[in-house]
Amino acid sequence: MLDHDYIARQFPRNDGEIFLNVAFEGRRPLRVVEAYGKELFNFRFTSKTRSLVLEASTQKEAQQNLAELFHCEPGEIAFCESVTEGVSMFASSYPWGPNDNVVLYEKDYPALVYPFLHCAPNCRIVPTIPDRGVKADDLINMVDENTRVIALASVQSFDGSRLDIEKLGDFCWKHGIDLCVDSIQGAGRLDLDVKKCHISYMACGGFKAMLNHLGCAFVYCDKDVAQRVVPIYFSEHGNVEKLGPAGHFNVMEQFSCYLNGFAEAAAFINELGIKDIEEYVLDLETYFRKKLGKLDPGLRSDLPSGVVFMNIDPAMKPIIQQKLAERKIITGVRDTNMRMSFDFWNTYEDADALAEVLHEVFD
Ligand SMILES: Cc1ncc(COP(=O)(O)O)c(C=O)c1O
Repeated sequence: MLDHDYIARQFPRNDGEIFLNVAFEGRRPLRVVEAYGKELFNFRFTSKTRSLVLEASTQKEAQQNLAELFHCEPGEIAFCESVTEGVSMFASSYPWGPNDNVVLYEKDYPALVYPFLHCAPNCRIVPTIPDRGVKADDLINMVDENTRVIALASVQSFDGSRLDIEKLGDFCWKHGIDLCVDSIQGAGRLDLDVKKCHISYMACGGFKAMLNHLGCAFVYCDKDVAQRVVPIYFSEHGNVEKLGPAGHFNVMEQFSCYLNGFAEAAAFINELGIKDIEEYVLDLETYFRKKLGKLDPGLRSDLPSGVVFMNIDPAMKPIIQQKLAERKIITGVRDTNMRMSFDFWNTYEDADALAEVLHEVFD
């Protein structure tokens, strides 16, 4: 059971705003903001800044808390700046043979797709399926005897479809394929057990439901996989031995506020319990879909993700935007679709308000 009073205090509302857009960018709880402040205060001793990071106590705490969240060992977590960088390290250093291929989904996020397009000898691409989210079987069906890697986002940015990663991981494990996952869209809201899902490598950014900031990210690399995938660049301050088996994925010295942010954010999520968070987020989605009634576009993927995606007529966009603005609702409205996303700071009243706007516009 989540402590909603505590959560509400941690996420004070800005002038009554209703924020339903975690798929775009998340919010920072007060305790993460305070962790940043504490760290910045340490910066007044400029000579201390580097040593604080190099002593790596913050880094260790961040590794530990993230490892608890994703069910792995602390030494399998390393830090970098973005999903783009995290995936690029893996794709560019994977020991490809000349006939090897990677299986990708055409509509997946560029941060995941491009490093493989450039680095893998061959790519087998699952084509976009209009009005139907991608499913684990679509990727499995694209595998052939030369497939070494399946790479994808666990929750798709474009339409919120969530793949059955456990099914995919099980298949990969049985066939000696490495599963590389971009988890930024679900991490912090949805439970992801990297070991149970046989994930070889995962890249995740801080700025959505991980409650941290833009410009910071982390990777998980399974300790056995880390023996055979060694990044082409190496940072002097990676502190490989100290950091653990995935230490060579650690890029440079980290801005210690980011590390503190990850340590605090993951501690908060762990205290609340990721399983309870997931249950609440998915319950909000179910509630919202019920409120939509006949407007509910239905689920398009293997699993619900806390994201509701709806096609719209471009002519309706300004009308929807105006109605949302009147109610101070922030959500994703694009030319031809809407992406509405829930996290644990949202309430059933938030879902009511959004459903009311959609009924006003479309009924
Ligand atoms: C699926 C997915 N991957 C990655 C990113 C961000 O990548 P980066 O951290 O490289 O900016 C986003 C951002 O919206 C995303 O939705």
